[in-house]
Amino acid sequence: MCGIVGYIGNKQALPILVQGLRDLEYRGYDSAGISILEDGKLQRVRAVGKIDNLVSKLKDQNYPGTLGISHTRWATHGGVTEENAHPHFALDGKIAIVHNGIIENYRELKKKLEKKVKFISQTDSEVLAHLIGSHYKGSLADAVRQALAEVRGTYGLLAVHTDHPDQIIAARLGSPLVIGVAEGEYFIASDVTPMLAYTKQVTFLDDGEVAEISRENVRISNLKDELITKGITQIDWDQAKAQKGGYEHFMLKEIMEQPTVFEDAIRGRINMEEGTAVLGGLNISEDQMRELKRIMIISGGTAYYAGLVGKYAFERLAQIPCEVDFSSEFRYRDPICDKKTLVYAVSQSGETADTIMAVREAKRKGAHVRGIINVVGSTIAREIGAGSYIHAGPEMAVASTKAYTNMVALLLLNAIQLGRLKHVTQATGKRMLESLLQIPAKMNEILKQADEIKAIAKKYAQYKNFFFLGRGVNYPVALEGSLKLKEISYIHSEGYAGGEMKHGPLALVSEEFPVVAILTRNQLYEKMKSNIQEARARGARTLIIATEGDIEAAEVADDIIFVPKTMELLEPLLNTIPLQLFAYYIAVELGRDVDRPRNLAKSVTVE
Ligand code: G6P
Repeated sequence: MCGIVGYIGNKQALPILVQGLRDLEYRGYDSAGISILEDGKLQRVRAVGKIDNLVSKLKDQNYPGTLGISHTRWATHGGVTEENAHPHFALDGKIAIVHNGIIENYRELKKKLEKKVKFISQTDSEVLAHLIGSHYKGSLADAVRQALAEVRGTYGLLAVHTDHPDQIIAARLGSPLVIGVAEGEYFIASDVTPMLAYTKQVTFLDDGEVAEISRENVRISNLKDELITKGITQIDWDQAKAQKGGYEHFMLKEIMEQPTVFEDAIRGRINMEEGTAVLGGLNISEDQMRELKRIMIISGGTAYYAGLVGKYAFERLAQIPCEVDFSSEFRYRDPICDKKTLVYAVSQSGETADTIMAVREAKRKGAHVRGIINVVGSTIAREIGAGSYIHAGPEMAVASTKAYTNMVALLLLNAIQLGRLKHVTQATGKRMLESLLQIPAKMNEILKQADEIKAIAKKYAQYKNFFFLGRGVNYPVALEGSLKLKEISYIHSEGYAGGEMKHGPLALVSEEFPVVAILTRNQLYEKMKSNIQEARARGARTLIIATEGDIEAAEVADDIIFVPKTMELLEPLLNTIPLQLFAYYIAVELGRDVDRPRNLAKSVTVE
């Protein structure tokens, strides 16, 4: 959500910035802009809509400048207009800034500044630009530091000034910024993707830090101008991984990658002999783990549904009560957690604002907090400093797929580990781990059916409403399947626990309201079958996810997709995949913008 790219070096900045913005497109945005320093003047071009619109406006310009900043904006304060797009100017175009985050006290600041300057946009960011301008007395870094001291809110900020052609100032509080380091040049961006083509050496800015970046070096300090020494991190994502790899959409590529990245998630984390999981980076001793009274999982969106799967595993294997909560609820509801509570923060981006705040709340209450995170070096990962990366690689499509499966994998490994410290036997642990190792091959079996699923999806694409039903561990699978469909196809859909249908939702069922149900062979098979029958009796068309070879399931199915058999707790790792493909092919059939659905963002860095 909002992306920043900056460049200072010896190459032409323009193509690097444009490509960098494209690399950040997956974050979600509704306008874009660029500013290049050239012959002592800041050139600026902005456009509403896709980056292509910006590129066509830039067509006749070939700014050769070697310093520039750029931005993709996802509107928060003020509508989607060119005036509201970044970069914002101050001091009659001498200063340009790009800003992610929200300046909460922008109204008060604006009132003060309005006496001296004329505002062109409705944004809080333009207020920040003028605030910096008002403090400028020859040093841009000082002006930024002084302005930020007056600000309440969050920022990832880049600022440039025409009198400082050899400098970009970057500052961060709550909105990520990474500096890519190469010979005589620096790349600054919201995440590492735009710099992967040039360098794998990066420095992550932390909250409260200001970087003064020239072509030769970077000086990092805090707002009081006290020097901070920082290291360089080596990133192991390659650029090819961050691109579509021949698929029509990132989402399809990411669905297809699941067997491979699943292996990455479990590699080196299994001790078969002991029947347990080996998870490094823990902040808690085995004794403390044995004494845990409660587990809480905090997250949002698809990560929340992964968390719900985790609940079944923790309660069954570790026999510790487990609560799953949206981060946005957890942080405000005075949750009961203390030093006998283990909190898992689950997040693909590691930047979801609500989850960051929920983590801080859990820490404040003395809980042990572990991250289950994809993006290395992200805010949550660094703030927690304990937990596991899920190793799903860059996930570009807004709708999460491979990150979900790997989150579930890590939650299962954590549950096995905790379970083994309690009553789970070595043999049970071993059996689960062996089943986990078979998952990638079984995922491939499902992915091979992509064409059949596509044909089924075509038959369902014209319906306006859907129910997704599941029971037990497949209840969260139904919720996730429903979310996938609604977010990328814009079709109304509801996920329900099979047993709840009779308490209201059944009233909606008709020939026009198909039911997608997960009916795999587990302890709730018969119960689930009855629920499906109840819907069929009211005319619903049914698409059933069933276990390979289960002829009986066909009795309640108009259409059927078979998945290989696995242990019940592991079923979500397989059963979610046909639902991802189903949603994907319906969205394609309807001509939707699959990777960047309307109104949504990949990384939700506002509350
Ligand atoms: C957004 C994305 C979802 C994601 C959710 C949580 O809504 O569109 O795909 O599941 O945020 O994001 P996180 O990065 O914390 O997993």
